[in-house]
Amino acid sequence: MTDLTDVRASALTLEEKASLTSGADFWTTKGVDRVGIPSIMVTDGPHGLRKQAAGADHLGLAASVPATCFPPAVGLSASFDPELAERVGTALGVESAIENVAVILGPGINIKRSPLCGRNFEYMSEDPIVSGVMGAGLVRGIQSQGVGASLKHFAANNQETDRLRVSSDVDPRTLREIYLRGFQRVVEDAQPWTVMCSYNRINGVYASEDPWLLTQVLRDEWGFEGIVVSDWGAVNDRVAGVVAGMDLEMPSSDGRTDAQIVAAVREGRLDESALDTIVDRLIDLARKAQARPAASGPLDVETHHALAREAAGRSIVLLKNDGGLLPLSRTAKIAVIGEFARTPRYQGAGSSQINPTRLDNALDEIRAASSGDVAFAPGYLIDEDAAPSDDETAALVAEATDAARAADTVVVFLGVPAHEESEGFDRTHIDLPAAQLALVDAVRAANPNVVVVLSNGGVVALPFADEVPAIVEAWLLGQAGGGATADVLFGAVNPSGRLAETIPLRLEDTPAFGRFPGEHGHVQYGEGLLVGYRWYDARRMQVAFPFGHGLSYTTFSYGDAAAATTAEGDIVVTVPVTNTGARTGREVVQLYVSLPASEVQRPPQELKAFSSVEIAAGETAQVSLRVRRSDLAYWDVRVDRWIVEGGEYDILVGASSRDIRSRTTVQVEGEKVVLPATMNSSIEEMLDDPVVGEELRAAIEEKFGGDSQLMKLLGNFPVGRLDGFPLPHAEMVALVERAQRG
Ligand code: BGC
Repeated sequence: MTDLTDVRASALTLEEKASLTSGADFWTTKGVDRVGIPSIMVTDGPHGLRKQAAGADHLGLAASVPATCFPPAVGLSASFDPELAERVGTALGVESAIENVAVILGPGINIKRSPLCGRNFEYMSEDPIVSGVMGAGLVRGIQSQGVGASLKHFAANNQETDRLRVSSDVDPRTLREIYLRGFQRVVEDAQPWTVMCSYNRINGVYASEDPWLLTQVLRDEWGFEGIVVSDWGAVNDRVAGVVAGMDLEMPSSDGRTDAQIVAAVREGRLDESALDTIVDRLIDLARKAQARPAASGPLDVETHHALAREAAGRSIVLLKNDGGLLPLSRTAKIAVIGEFARTPRYQGAGSSQINPTRLDNALDEIRAASSGDVAFAPGYLIDEDAAPSDDETAALVAEATDAARAADTVVVFLGVPAHEESEGFDRTHIDLPAAQLALVDAVRAANPNVVVVLSNGGVVALPFADEVPAIVEAWLLGQAGGGATADVLFGAVNPSGRLAETIPLRLEDTPAFGRFPGEHGHVQYGEGLLVGYRWYDARRMQVAFPFGHGLSYTTFSYGDAAAATTAEGDIVVTVPVTNTGARTGREVVQLYVSLPASEVQRPPQELKAFSSVEIAAGETAQVSLRVRRSDLAYWDVRVDRWIVEGGEYDILVGASSRDIRSRTTVQVEGEKVVLPATMNSSIEEMLDDPVVGEELRAAIEEKFGGDSQLMKLLGNFPVGRLDGFPLPHAEMVALVERAQRG
């Protein structure tokens, strides 16, 4: 192995340098043998390793080596626990290292703008703090093993429809506060080795050739030190990409784009120093990959399966549990209904499809955990090509209702068929199949003690929510999801997952409805900041289950929250939380912030911190939450930077966005935006001017008296608009000039 410490771009020929900027094939980079730069391997990601043994594609078609399939992001994020994410990340790093993979292509942290996005199962949340904190946990874990992460898809890639060309048209404030904030958090906190730029355009510019995105924001503002890799096939103009800071094109272009780079340098269209910068970064990536300690296999399948089961158990959200129907008694007579209990849906389709080392199913696991009678009826078919006849459907339902009638409790597994949720296309509705909805109705008529267990990568409408006593949201849980589901059903695991996305009542209620997925190459993010719960709260809408919601088999009470600011300007909130029930459980304490007197439009409340804490029965934990000052900031488009407004902030602490248990306030020192005075400044703005404001006020008072009605009427007039109001034109010009001199 050559020591790369002193190897720089300057040691390479122009052709060698250009060759490094694109892949050798589907999954490996090119090396330069002459100076000892090695080729390295990168593979998907994100919730397991998808290393293809032979055959290469980015759609999950060809087989890959067996690897642990951890819960996809839709599940893991519901744990609201970055430490758990870090442990899963560490396991991903270990598996990558054993397979000699230098970079694993994840995590994906795009915001769930609409429940229709076909890839929501790969993303964390509708909230940027949840996405950022959980994403940073995963990156920290992966990289603790000397393996790189790839934070994706940067940025504003929130749909699959026309994903390779569509322009996400987002206003700058929304882009910063909602769509970039999570990426910023992960970059600043965990410094991923690589960031994957997305396919789409942002406000008309391809992410893969956007100097503002890839250099100004990512590197200059956030301090990113790694390389930018293109999503597979995202390169539109390779030379423009070099200028923008897009380091590595994947997969191989068969030398075509390398030649374009060489020609551009030779013809003076591309500054060679821009290429050198990229090449130095790519050498640095190879250096980091080389530094990884040799990993010794084989993979400890059992230990990682156990971690996958733990993580899956922590991902499950107990939505409803009337009358304490759950947990089930191990001696109860149970009817398990629904094909998904026997044939689990445990991950989504596309590039993230893992070849699991093992696969649990809930039916076997329920039978293993139960000492009573467990009957099973499939209830419906999940083979998309085999639609049952009416008679077959009737027979399936009859078998299910017979089983339900004979049981104490019925556990009905429902879910979204695999062919409806995948990378590459979006959903067109959020409904469960009609046959499944009809099945629930028939089953609950036969036996009202119904527990519904859901398997879905994106949220679904739950028209039966008021009719069944218990609902378990079991997402897609990875290879150990069956065991984890049994753990929660029987109470071996006390559920503690929380909704990282709102479950709406209807698709028509959702923020991007009518604006998703856009048309003719553009999608307007017209709902602005009001994404997810921000939208439902602002419009005071009913939802099926709110953001942050999730029940436990125990209960928690909250004491009074107390808030203080630190020397750095962060807010620290402490709140005593008591487990008032009979068993140990985890509470996810959530902190929302609101600034009612804000000068800018804001969502009514925004999550700024959370903590998942285990509390023993009868015990009280002093939970401490820290809100970073930078997370209080809004993006001010007038000055193009973050501004923390001063004022009294409401601090809302609770068990969900709609279950606030304690409130307090905290005074925050802010920053006032002072815009340069011009003849177009309004009278009100000039009255605020530190140099001439008082003088102007006195002049107005002298001329017009303290007529507040007049000021209300004319205060928003630019000072240069009406001669003589408030001062003669020449005097006004002089005043503005003095204000400008400061
Ligand atoms: C996906 C990426 C993935 C890549 C490689 C692309 O189509 O968008 O998420 O990492 O393929 O498989």
